[in-house]
Amino acid sequence: MGAVVIDGQAVADRLQAQIAEQVSRLRAQGVTPGLGVVMAGDNPASQQYVRMKRRACERVGIHSVVEIVDASTPQDRVRALVEQMNADPAIHGILVQLPLPAHVDEATILSAVSLEKDVDGFHPVNIGALAMKGREPSFTPATPTGCMALLEAHGVPLSGANAVVIGRSNIVGLPMALMLMKANATVTVCHSRTRNIPEIVRSADVVIAAIGQPFFVKGEWLKPGAVVIDVGTNRVDDPTTERGYRIVGDVDFDSAAQVAGAISKVPGGVGPMTITMLLSNCVKAAQRALGQAS
Ligand code: GUN
Repeated sequence: MGAVVIDGQAVADRLQAQIAEQVSRLRAQGVTPGLGVVMAGDNPASQQYVRMKRRACERVGIHSVVEIVDASTPQDRVRALVEQMNADPAIHGILVQLPLPAHVDEATILSAVSLEKDVDGFHPVNIGALAMKGREPSFTPATPTGCMALLEAHGVPLSGANAVVIGRSNIVGLPMALMLMKANATVTVCHSRTRNIPEIVRSADVVIAAIGQPFFVKGEWLKPGAVVIDVGTNRVDDPTTERGYRIVGDVDFDSAAQVAGAISKVPGGVGPMTITMLLSNCVKAAQRALGQAS
C-alpha cells in the first residue's frame, strides 16, 4: 500500500477540542450554543445519525433539543416545530434530519428554517449563494464542508486541480461540486447516467466518492497519486462480526490504496468530520447571535 491514509477521526478530535474551547468561552459570556433537531419517522440510519449528533453536542457542551415525531405527522406540524425553534432564542442552529416522510415536502420544510439558524446549509437561499460567484452562504452543508476540511488538513492543492465528484445528491454531491468550484478546481460530476465513469475518474487529481454503492470505485480507475475522499457509509454482510455486518465506503479501499497518493478511511474518515462541521456551524451561529461575527 502506497497511499497516505487520511484519518478523519484524528482531524475531527483536534477540531472538536477547539470547538469545546469556543463553547466554554461562549458559556462564560452567558450563551450556551443550542442545536435543535427535527426528525420525522423512524428510519434506522437517521436515528443513528441523530444519536451521534446528540452525543457529539454533549461532548463539546452544546445544548441540544431533539424533536422526534411519528412518520405520519402532518407537514404543518413538522413545519410548526421548525418555526417554534426559529423563535426560540436558546436554539442557534436547526437541523431537519433527512429524508423526510414522502408526504412531507422537503423544499417547504427546509425553506422554513431561518437563514441565521440554517446550520445544515440546506436552505435554498444558502445553496443559491454557494452556487453563485461573489456570494457567500451563511452556512455550508456539513458533509462536503468536512471533506473540504480534510483536504485542507492534508494540504491538498485545489486551485486548477481536476476534481471528480461521483454522486449528485442535494446533501453531498451537489454542494461538494459547488464548494470545489469555489476553491477554483475544475469539477466534473458523475452520476447514475454517466457513461464512462472509469475514464473520467482517471483524469482526477481529487476524487470524491458519494454514490452510496459499496466498493464502487476501483483502484485501476485512479490516476497514480490521486487524493481520494470516500463519503460512502454502506452496510455489507459480515458473519465474522458480532453485528453480522460491517461498514464500508464507496471505494474499494484495498485496490485504491495501491494507486492513490492519499485516501480517507471508512469508518473514521468523513463521518466524524460531518459531525464536527455541524458543531462548528452551531458555534458560529451562537457567536453571530452574540454579535461576534465570523
Ligand atoms: N441525512 C443524511 N445526512 C444528513 C445530513 O448531513 N443532514 C441532514 N439534515 N440529514 C441527513
